[in-house]
Amino acid sequence: MSRSGSSFPAASRLGVNIDHVATLRQLRGTPYPSLVEAARIVETAGGEQITIHLREDRRHIQDQDVVDLRKSLKVMMNLEMAATDAMVKIATKIKPEWVCLVPEKRTEVTTEGGLDLKKNRSRMAKTIEKLKKAKIKVSLFVEPTVSVVTQSHDLGADAVELHTGQYCLATQGALGKKSASRVKPEFERIEKAARHGVQLGLHVHAGHGFDYENVRSVAALERSDRSALIEEFNIGHAIVCRAALVGMERAVREMIASIRAP
Ligand code: PXP
Repeated sequence: MSRSGSSFPAASRLGVNIDHVATLRQLRGTPYPSLVEAARIVETAGGEQITIHLREDRRHIQDQDVVDLRKSLKVMMNLEMAATDAMVKIATKIKPEWVCLVPEKRTEVTTEGGLDLKKNRSRMAKTIEKLKKAKIKVSLFVEPTVSVVTQSHDLGADAVELHTGQYCLATQGALGKKSASRVKPEFERIEKAARHGVQLGLHVHAGHGFDYENVRSVAALERSDRSALIEEFNIGHAIVCRAALVGMERAVREMIASIRAP
């Protein structure tokens, strides 16, 4: 039986991260592109969740985006954020269906790795408790290791989002000469951590760095009942990049129409 239809066994859900639609807007400070419109198109196309990262430096998503999306979304909202008091205050007001707690460094280009749960144990525990009290489900963005998945479970998280960045970089040849030899071990780390998470009763999500090719083998992983091992994928950059290409023809035609039929 195929997992591509809506019937059992269950297929994975796609959460579309639209941060980089906001990046394009913030580059120029223009009123476009509209995030609400982008989210509507994602919904029309079958995306089952909108993922946004409200970074402390507000480099792409702004507070008003979170408010506007909360009002307009028909699908679930997954708010990625650092475990700070200020962010918890925003989340408990907005009440997304999910919060994904992520580590954040101001100087990083993108999130560079999973949470250090040992170092930040008490802060994480307090943050998870506050969010769950507000009836928000909590996922922790972690490295794909058995030990950190166990720690996530012990902290009371509902889900882990496995950081797939190293695997994806390896598949793209971006780890230098060792890239080819890293693909298999990185893939196996993801599989092992995911199976462990499922055994512990956690929801298992995955994200970071996926493209249209390297996602396939991770999406093909199955449980014993043939449902998808990974319940949810959160993917952003590759989709926004692809949209710039597949949407280019229409965008150019519309501009020619504006010039020729003003
Ligand atoms: N999941 C998390 C926790 C992230 O921080 C990001 C990047 O913002 C993503 C998923 C999406 O990653 P990408 O844009 O590489 O698909």
